Amino acid sequence: MAHLHSLLSLSFPTAPTLSHSHIHTSSTQPWPPPSLLAAPAATSSRCLLPHRQDFSLSVLLFSFHSEMPRRLSAHLPPLPQPQRLAAGLFLQPGLKLAKEDIKELLKTKFCHPLLVRLGWHDSGTFNKNIDEWPQRGGANGSLRFEIELKHAANAGLVNALKLIQPIKDKYSGVTYADLFQLASASAVEEAGGPKIPMKYGRVDVSAPEQCPEEGRLPDAGPPSPADHLREVFYRMGLNDKEIVALSGAHTLGRSRPERSGWGKPETKYTKDGPGAPGGQSWTAQWLKFDNSYFKDIKEKRDEDLLVLPTDAALFEDPSFKVFAEKYADDQEAFFNDYAEAHAKLSNLGAKFDPPEGIVIDDGPSQPVPEKFVAAKYSSGKRELSDSMKQKIRAEYQAIGGSPDKPLQSNYFLNIIIVIAVLAILTSLFGN
Ligand code: HEM
Repeated sequence: MAHLHSLLSLSFPTAPTLSHSHIHTSSTQPWPPPSLLAAPAATSSRCLLPHRQDFSLSVLLFSFHSEMPRRLSAHLPPLPQPQRLAAGLFLQPGLKLAKEDIKELLKTKFCHPLLVRLGWHDSGTFNKNIDEWPQRGGANGSLRFEIELKHAANAGLVNALKLIQPIKDKYSGVTYADLFQLASASAVEEAGGPKIPMKYGRVDVSAPEQCPEEGRLPDAGPPSPADHLREVFYRMGLNDKEIVALSGAHTLGRSRPERSGWGKPETKYTKDGPGAPGGQSWTAQWLKFDNSYFKDIKEKRDEDLLVLPTDAALFEDPSFKVFAEKYADDQEAFFNDYAEAHAKLSNLGAKFDPPEGIVIDDGPSQPVPEKFVAAKYSSGKRELSDSMKQKIRAEYQAIGGSPDKPLQSNYFLNIIIVIAVLAILTSLFGN
């Protein structure tokens, strides 16, 4: 009965408002429940999702008891709306808070690679030859719908959604489209990668009918990998440099045969996790974002490291090779190009509200050079003694100044003129 009452209060906006103290006292169960997280990826989308298209609703029903306290927070005063700071610059407090929660999630679940793949698979459906939104695909949150999660290329991504759904529930003003991209960019940054110049304000699609058709994402083993990469990425409006830089995201994560069909069930680098053990990684330290992906593919020395046909193409195709070689030699060049390409990828197909986007005020993307302060570089004690301060004050007051009445600037001018006249007279009469 108590649950029925709670259900009613959740369903109708006129339900009695509960105080914070009511809400916190009953929050005991963790979310997501371990049983949900432990579900094998390949089967979870079929077994766990009821016959509903909107995954968020499915999770809500599934998690009704454990999520109750958080759901009730929907009745608390809403989070502040985006504020305009200056022309073209908005601040969304919910986004910043959501980013902090994502960072906490990363610390406990080590899901950096999965979240990067989530962001990429939402935006990578973009077709630049279609003008209309959302038919053109791209970063519009459509990947939350079961119909798209079930596309073969998205195997396993239902787990990413389960992980971030509680954050979406907490900051309901943040769209799925933004949250996917926020999670991906934060994961890269937290794994040691570059800071990505992101903007937010993406509008969500609202129904599964608005999802793109299957087949817009790349295959890992097509007959002609370089041609295939160009076909898919050019359709998104990306170029050769961006294809190579973005492929460098495989410095993170693993491929699992039970998801994509690629990779070994486990290797010496993956058998102990962190996170769910198993799969084959492209790099030895697969939770660290660096340029080792390019170094390792170039060397191809370790049987335990994965090289997909599309990865190998980066060192075989003459145009791709120029960039792949450069990134293997120069991590800074890779980071710069990756950050730029990732930001571009995250905006593909997106409709922004406000049109200029929203920035998260969490510091500049590049460290700002320290302001030059001469005093910092001078040596010795510069503080005046008290007696000297008194003397100066007395002289200052003698010529009409006072602490609350600043001296007029022409007093100084007069003094300088008097001194100059005296100096001239002295030199004239002195001779
Ligand atoms: C160039 C064409 C690409 C192909 C053919 C490709 C293919 C794949 C495949 C087969 C997997 C393994 C999935 C699994 O079994 O769980 C994978 C994982 C991954 N991909 Fe890609 N990918 C491509 C581009 C990208 C791009 C552009 C990004 C990001 C910017 C990206 C990020 C990732 C990440 C981070 C993982 C690891 C996921 C995890 O460990 O759970 N990929 N990709």
